[in-house]
Amino acid sequence: MANITFKHVVKAYDSRDKKGEKIVVVPDLNLEIYDKEFVVLVGPSGCGKSTTLRMIAGLEDVSGGELYIGDRLVNDVEPKDRDIAMVFQSYALYPHMTVYKNMAFGLELRKTPKEEIEKRVLEAARILELEPYLKRKPKELSGGQRQRVALGRAMVRNPAVFLLDEPLSNLDAKLRTEMRSQIAALHKRLQTTFVYVTHDQTEAMTMGDRIVVMKDGNIHQVDTPQNLYNQPCNMFVASFIGSPQMNFIDAKVEKDGDAYALCFEGCRVPSNKAELADYVGKEVVVGIRPEDLHAEGSFNSSCGFPIHVEMAEMMGSEIYVYFNVNGNPDGKKKIARIPSRENIHSDDDVRLLIDVNRVHVFDKETQAAICH
Ligand SMILES: Nc1ncnc2c1ncn2[C@@H]1O[C@H](COP(=O)(O)OP(=O)(O)O)[C@@H](O)[C@H]1O
Ligand SMILES: [Mg+2]
Repeated sequence: MANITFKHVVKAYDSRDKKGEKIVVVPDLNLEIYDKEFVVLVGPSGCGKSTTLRMIAGLEDVSGGELYIGDRLVNDVEPKDRDIAMVFQSYALYPHMTVYKNMAFGLELRKTPKEEIEKRVLEAARILELEPYLKRKPKELSGGQRQRVALGRAMVRNPAVFLLDEPLSNLDAKLRTEMRSQIAALHKRLQTTFVYVTHDQTEAMTMGDRIVVMKDGNIHQVDTPQNLYNQPCNMFVASFIGSPQMNFIDAKVEKDGDAYALCFEGCRVPSNKAELADYVGKEVVVGIRPEDLHAEGSFNSSCGFPIHVEMAEMMGSEIYVYFNVNGNPDGKKKIARIPSRENIHSDDDVRLLIDVNRVHVFDKETQAAICH
């Protein structure tokens, strides 16, 4: 069993801030990662993803709380006794050793019998398609091949937990996409727990069984990719997941018979969500994903508003249509994704229609989701 449990885990670094206080980068982390699960930690740079992963590995001490791997409290367990293997962004291969030796070395240090080492290295090489390169040195390999060697080195140890810290960020875009599916396939095959760190929401969405969205050392939401996308718990998650990001527009809630209306940009979007009762007469923020805005004539909706196209960016199958709104809580340009057959150009004046079933509503003060 290799589930991982954080109970009120704190991480403070010994270095001091301007006031002479210890820098707390993780104030109170609570998380359960299940056995055999592929969990992705995602968030902006500096939010504490690597720190969290390195605490699991034992490369960073836990300053408070309890960290369990399986049923074992590991706060004071040495990294080598944790049954984990870690893969880094930088690969960290030994340059003077062959591919074979790079994968075998850790096992040799552990005094694993020679035949066993050979069996495991050849098995890993076969799975990772590295057999033709076993005699080469790292400098004679491509970036993708090097990263596969780093994965192989972790695999031969048969760890209960794989920890991966931005393992693909040194690869070019095409290779990254390829390696994404290779790592996902590796997880299926090995049937062990994977904890994967990335700042890239696409990587997180395509690979994770569950995704942990972090900011400033705090977890904002833990959920499946689909739930994160469709039911983000607050404006941070809503804007971080999805590209281009969700549009936020100021709106006012009005009573409309037995139901409510969200009023913004001159339109009234009907809603029967009971959660809006407390907000009647108040300002909220409406969230609309770029694909939920449509060109007039191509979609049926009772709600829409006129825009002036600031820029129309041709993406091939779609056009990204950029526009401004009056009530703009984040000050960002708004975007609609329109099929390119619609023929919209910069400087056009057009009407956008809203898919009223796909509107998210957020509290303007707390930024928490009110309803979806
Ligand atoms: N050894 C250290 N001493 C002090 N602060 C650190 C140390 N390592 C990381 N930090 C700080 O901890 C925060 C989280 O860092 P990190 O976990 O590396 O973030 P991420 O991996 O999400 O980019 C950052 O603000 C970083 O500056
Ligand atoms: Mg990091």
